[in-house]
Amino acid sequence: MKEIRLAVATRNAGKIREIRKALEGLPLRLLTCEDFPDWPVPEEEGSTFEENALEKAESLARFSGLPSLADDSGLEVDALDGAPGVSSAYYAGRHGDDAGNVARLLTEMEGIPSEGRGARFVCVLALAGPRGERRLIRETCEGRIAEEPRGEGGFGYDPVFVPRGHSRTMAELTLEEKNALSHRGKALRRLRELLERGEPTWLFSDPS
Ligand code: IMP
Repeated sequence: MKEIRLAVATRNAGKIREIRKALEGLPLRLLTCEDFPDWPVPEEEGSTFEENALEKAESLARFSGLPSLADDSGLEVDALDGAPGVSSAYYAGRHGDDAGNVARLLTEMEGIPSEGRGARFVCVLALAGPRGERRLIRETCEGRIAEEPRGEGGFGYDPVFVPRGHSRTMAELTLEEKNALSHRGKALRRLRELLERGEPTWLFSDPS
């Protein structure tokens, strides 16, 4: 298999680390935003994770001329009609205010009994080619919202998310345990399996 250059459309160092780890050993050379410092990261204005992930991947593919990979993720809470959803990162106002986001979520969920606290994390990975090719992978992790935050690990809503079949929150799991069941862990494993099979074919026939 010849080495493929793949541009990763995120400035989030944590996501880049996870992606590198998940794709380790494949004949891929991952380029990051540091290789394309002038790339204008698009605003995430779509109403679905798919739209946002595609927007980022397609924008970098056009800019770099290389196949590109992006991820978009968030939390959907049944009792809140799927909120915070695509607004997960800025639910409390400021982008990436994890403590504020968790506090707002717990306020919105006040008084809702445990059987009404179902939720899921969603991760969508988008691969885009410079000639408009696209491939999407969606994975979820089902669970419920805890009454109060517990645990120091992870990030975002991990301290208040209890995966189905577990009693600990995501933030109380080790990183290996989280990756084994998380939305992003599952999506990255599917991406790896896809690439190992030589798919999508347009990625491997790319002349770049
Ligand atoms: P984005 O995909 O960078 O737009 O960020 C999505 C937001 O969803 C993050 O800021 C977190 O609030 C939340 N989120 C996504 N994945 C996870 C996770 O694995 N644990 C906790 N929160 C997450």
